[in-house]
Amino acid sequence: MTLTAARLLAPLAAALALAACGGGGEGAEVEGAHGAAATSSSAGLPKGRVAEGEALANVKGKATGQSCIECHGADGNNPLDDSYPKLGGQYYDYLEHALQQYRSGAREHALMSQQARDLSDQQIADLAVYFGSRPSQLRDLHGAH
Ligand code: HEC
Repeated sequence: MTLTAARLLAPLAAALALAACGGGGEGAEVEGAHGAAATSSSAGLPKGRVAEGEALANVKGKATGQSCIECHGADGNNPLDDSYPKLGGQYYDYLEHALQQYRSGAREHALMSQQARDLSDQQIADLAVYFGSRPSQLRDLHGAH
């Protein structure tokens, strides 16, 4: 690496390291966009409840008028469109993290950002354990062709 490149990359690396930590440290809480205290790390979320998550997954969202199940399909495994991800059997902490990122704006998507915007920490945990407890269609790439 040339000296110039190293000089250019150093601030970038520092910025990435800061972003990765969220700047707040372990268990940090950030103020949600709508005033409610919201955690930024899945490690700080309350324990999820499957039954409550299932009920919520069937409630139509205000923004798009569609429920999680309407877009992601029964058990999160039969999406409306091929480009919509399957959620069934996914690691619940991954799902929590994804929903937190949509809520905070760290991850943006025209449909999902609106879906996640008003979710509480408890609702995110409930939805994540519900979809995480569904049968998995996760697979490796073996036989993908
Ligand atoms: C109007 C359709 C629609 C609705 C309603 C919807 N989703 Fe999504 N969801 C999507 C699409 C499209 C994506 C892919 C977005 C992207 O590329 O970031 C997605 C992505 C996700 C992801 C990220 C998956 C991954 O592998 O990273 C999660 C988690 C998720 N949705 C959960 C939910 C939950 C929970 C609800 C209900 C509160 C919900 N979705 C409602 C369309 C929808």
